[in-house]
Amino acid sequence: MIDTLEKLITEVSNKLGYNIAKMHIIKSNRPDLCDYQCDDAFKLAKEFHQNPVAIGKDIVQAINELSNFDDYFKEVSFAQPGFINMSLSDKFITSYLVRMNKDDKWGIKPISNPETFVIDYGGPNVAKPLHVGHMRTAIVGEAIKRIIKYQGHNVISDIHLGDYGLQIGEVIYGLQKEGVAISDINIALLDRIYPEMSALCKEDEDIKEECATITKKLQDGDEEYHKWWQKILEVSTADMKSIYDYLDVHFDYWYGESDAYPYLDEATDILNAKHLLEESEGALVVDVTKADDKKMVPPLLFKKSNGAYLYASTEIATIIQRVKDFHPDHILYVVDLRQELHFEQVFRVCDKADIIAYNKLEYLGYGTVNGEDGKPYKTRSGDAPKLQNLFDQAKEILMSKSEMSSNLSDDDIDKIVNSILKFADLENNRERDYIFDISKFSEVIGKTGPYILYTYLRIRKIIDDNAFDYNALTNVIYNVYDRDLRLKILDLPFAFKMAFDSRMPNFIAEYLYDVCVLTNVFYQNNHINNEEDAVKKNDWLCILDMTSHIIKDMLYLLGIDIPTTM
Ligand code: ARG
Repeated sequence: MIDTLEKLITEVSNKLGYNIAKMHIIKSNRPDLCDYQCDDAFKLAKEFHQNPVAIGKDIVQAINELSNFDDYFKEVSFAQPGFINMSLSDKFITSYLVRMNKDDKWGIKPISNPETFVIDYGGPNVAKPLHVGHMRTAIVGEAIKRIIKYQGHNVISDIHLGDYGLQIGEVIYGLQKEGVAISDINIALLDRIYPEMSALCKEDEDIKEECATITKKLQDGDEEYHKWWQKILEVSTADMKSIYDYLDVHFDYWYGESDAYPYLDEATDILNAKHLLEESEGALVVDVTKADDKKMVPPLLFKKSNGAYLYASTEIATIIQRVKDFHPDHILYVVDLRQELHFEQVFRVCDKADIIAYNKLEYLGYGTVNGEDGKPYKTRSGDAPKLQNLFDQAKEILMSKSEMSSNLSDDDIDKIVNSILKFADLENNRERDYIFDISKFSEVIGKTGPYILYTYLRIRKIIDDNAFDYNALTNVIYNVYDRDLRLKILDLPFAFKMAFDSRMPNFIAEYLYDVCVLTNVFYQNNHINNEEDAVKKNDWLCILDMTSHIIKDMLYLLGIDIPTTM
């Protein structure tokens, strides 16, 4: 839509002798005065050594003299000291809405060459219970994945399990100490053993050492430990899968750090061939400093003096595997902001070693989910809450709300719980920390998932109760509530582009919320069911129908499914 207007104004300017490749149009800073504005008279003034007032007025006059002015504008006026203010005509707004409605992607600019994106999110650790932090990467990662797919790119998702770390040695040690047989390993056991062992290893250096030895032997191919590991992996991932299923989060690959081990030799060879590995106190490191670094970036530790590989080494090996298997144009990492330095080091090494260019690797950090105290969210007993318990708690709070129907199906309850957790997370810029407050998140009135769902269901009811026909839609806009909603719909491609370019789903969440607020205002002021003017009624039903489909599609991008009732 903006493109159309930009083209028109560029043509007008060029005809006046102001040669410019493109005049830019933006949303108005003063929506009370106009819908859109163009500030390029200032640019032209500089270039042609003239006064922006004269240029601006010139262009405004030429636009007003266009024979097809009404096809585009209601009003175009000049504002000091050089702004061109534009209000769109009803005809333009509505004809554009019709075009958007016919396009299955709402006028989002299609891409000419689909690229391949690998997206790495989730990243849970085998044998450790999932906590709220894991929920955030799952929710944010899933939304980013859906947004990129919606744009038309190929997306490959990989959970990148932490399945080969010290916790495995600790858990095997603990299980063996208790005399548990491999076949008896279950999730309750793992949930109990891991925290116990983790605490024990913090106190007792010798036990910690022993657990590290078990881990190292496993990594080196010990057959006995491999059997333990396999069972632990099986039990733990089954539990994880049920959580991700609940969240409607799905991965194409369930690869883990262990899958990168076969690529470590190759990684070593590549780094050696480029003379990047240096010895430092018996360990192998890669220097990654750059001349213009403002902060010191320490060397990447590739191999410990005892021969063990680390998180950073498997990270590099994983990139080698991904490049080979998937030929990605981009690899995206949705990982806790506290890991920023790790990724900076890894990306620099991969770039230096020509494994993949730095600009194809994107670190998409996310902030912490906090409790009221501003510290990472904990249960009353002080533990990081298990996600399953958190879902149960959300259900309970939801059902205590008087607005909620008392005979909801389990499936609908789960969908509403998902909307609560996801919208609360995604309306925040992903880099920002937020305070976890289920009660607030589940309010029906407010910036919440249930508010969006409720708005959707309410307008669907009106639409379904009435017949309407898109072919009879006129160009008339009836009042300011009507106009505001239609103008907001026109913004969709812009909101989407912001979300896509910045990999920030909050632009979609914000947009969705704004649409819902305007939808509520629209139907509170326009009584569709009682409207006697059949033409007006039909027009409004069309707009509302279109809005409902937009809400549905935007909810999909956020990973939120719609319940049948609330
Ligand atoms: N398992 C890691 C952790 O818990 C997160 C993995 C993130 N992804 C990655 N490619 N490093 O810290």
